[in-house]
Amino acid sequence: MAFQSYLVLGLLVLLGLLTNVIAVRYPASLNRTSFPEGFIFGTAAAAYQYEGAAKEDGKGPSIWDTYTHEHPDWIKDGNNADVAVDQYHLYKKDIQIMNKMNLDAYRFSISWSRVLPKGKLSGGVNRKGIEYYNKLINRLLSRGIKPFVTIYHWDLPQALDDEYGGFLSPKIVDDFRDYAELLFNEFGDRVKHWITLNEPWSFSSGGYAEKSLAPGRCSTWQNLNCTGGDSGTEPYLVTHHELLSHAAAVEVYKKKYQATQKGVIGVTLISHWFVPFSNAERDQRAAQRGLDFMLGWFMDPLTNGDYPHSMRSLVKDRLPKFTKKQSKQLNGSFDFIGLNYYTAKYVAYAPQPNGDRASYLSDASANLTTSRNGILIGPPDMMSSIMPPYRSRKPLLIPYELTITINILCIFIGLSRKALMLRDTLHGHCWTTLSGPQVSVFDLDSTL
Ligand SMILES: *[C@@H]1O[C@H](CO)[C@@H](O)[C@H](O)[C@H]1NC(C)=O
Ligand SMILES: *[C@@H]1O[C@H](CO)[C@@H](O)[C@H](O)[C@H]1NC(C)=O
Ligand SMILES: *[C@@H]1O[C@H](CO)[C@@H](O)[C@H](O)[C@H]1NC(C)=O
Ligand SMILES: *[C@@H]1O[C@H](CO)[C@@H](O)[C@H](O)[C@H]1NC(C)=O
Repeated sequence: MAFQSYLVLGLLVLLGLLTNVIAVRYPASLNRTSFPEGFIFGTAAAAYQYEGAAKEDGKGPSIWDTYTHEHPDWIKDGNNADVAVDQYHLYKKDIQIMNKMNLDAYRFSISWSRVLPKGKLSGGVNRKGIEYYNKLINRLLSRGIKPFVTIYHWDLPQALDDEYGGFLSPKIVDDFRDYAELLFNEFGDRVKHWITLNEPWSFSSGGYAEKSLAPGRCSTWQNLNCTGGDSGTEPYLVTHHELLSHAAAVEVYKKKYQATQKGVIGVTLISHWFVPFSNAERDQRAAQRGLDFMLGWFMDPLTNGDYPHSMRSLVKDRLPKFTKKQSKQLNGSFDFIGLNYYTAKYVAYAPQPNGDRASYLSDASANLTTSRNGILIGPPDMMSSIMPPYRSRKPLLIPYELTITINILCIFIGLSRKALMLRDTLHGHCWTTLSGPQVSVFDLDSTL
């Protein structure tokens, strides 16, 4: 289940499927010239989904190894990714395919426990792990494919979960920074695009409130047989520490590496588009809260140093606070923001549940659904997510470089050169960028 709904959707493009995707959904006239000049075409992966070699060459276990092995019943077909598509052994073949497809970039994530089996520097660096990524990176570059590296894509070293609960603890911040710095040191001479975290929302919400992702925690009253947890507090702690870890890694990159390595660093978020269920004021407001609790939860700290007002007033003491110093460190801590966008939801007002059942999932008083009066919000696509009619409420202009990954189409990574972006009117538009002060809009509709 986790696999189906998230891992696969979570990012990736099955390399060989690409041409089929286009053939099935889009007319043949959609081709590279349909895109703005400078648009970077790539494919993307997560270490756990792709590498396999789960126990080889000194790799330590991650929470995904634990989740799949201890709870095969939580996975649709009981499977695990011990072998996956075996990219660890077959990377040359995969790169050959990418090369044949004429791709410009490959976004992959590094398995933390492959390079640091115990999660921290003091537990030792696994040189074999480093060697694998060197081979991967060098091969990509030799074929003209730029490596875009995700530092953390949900596969926390099990050792850190055992020791202090991983991202539940502030201790993660130093270990994450050390891990990131190891990567800058080892690979930063060749890697110029760093993504600290992939979809930190999915990790907090899926791992600590919904049980759909490792480590599978949630409140007992949800009767989901979770591995422990509290859906009213843990997702907020985890996000807090994800944000602080991100900021610490960005700070060290900017202070010590960026001037010489000349790369850029950012984070990839995820958001649904939120459509008010009706014109009623309370549904309109619920939709705004829905956005605050998903995208704003990350975007506001990154662009203004604090959580959205709605979250602070609704979650109250369960929402951790930033110190002045942390807030300053977070504000503006990116060169670009990636946005993974899959689907839209109708949002209706929902009353708070009775009794002592606080949860991240109900705190926004927003009920997310995909249909209204029996009619779906958009046509289900081949990955059973839904292509929405985008409707804007409030434009958001982020005055920074921005990368957009439009996973719904599974094909592009748009890399901006300067300024831009979206949240308003994505009516199937994919906004990409531009050098200079202007924001250009690339209208997919007109090309499809
Ligand atoms: C590429 O797409 C454009 C329309 O976006 C079309 O005019 C052109 O003929 C296409 N080229 C090829 C080689 O299919
Ligand atoms: C929880 O575990 C019990 C006992 O193994 C099982 O009967 C039940 O179906 C499980 N519930 C869920 C939601 O997985
Ligand atoms: C965050 O940074 C922006 C842009 O530099 C600035 O305008 C804003 O005042 C900052 N917010 C806080 C709370 O410092
Ligand atoms: C959410 O909406 C669905 C569909 O309209 C409804 O069945 C359900 O009861 C609602 N849940 C809450 C908590 O309001």
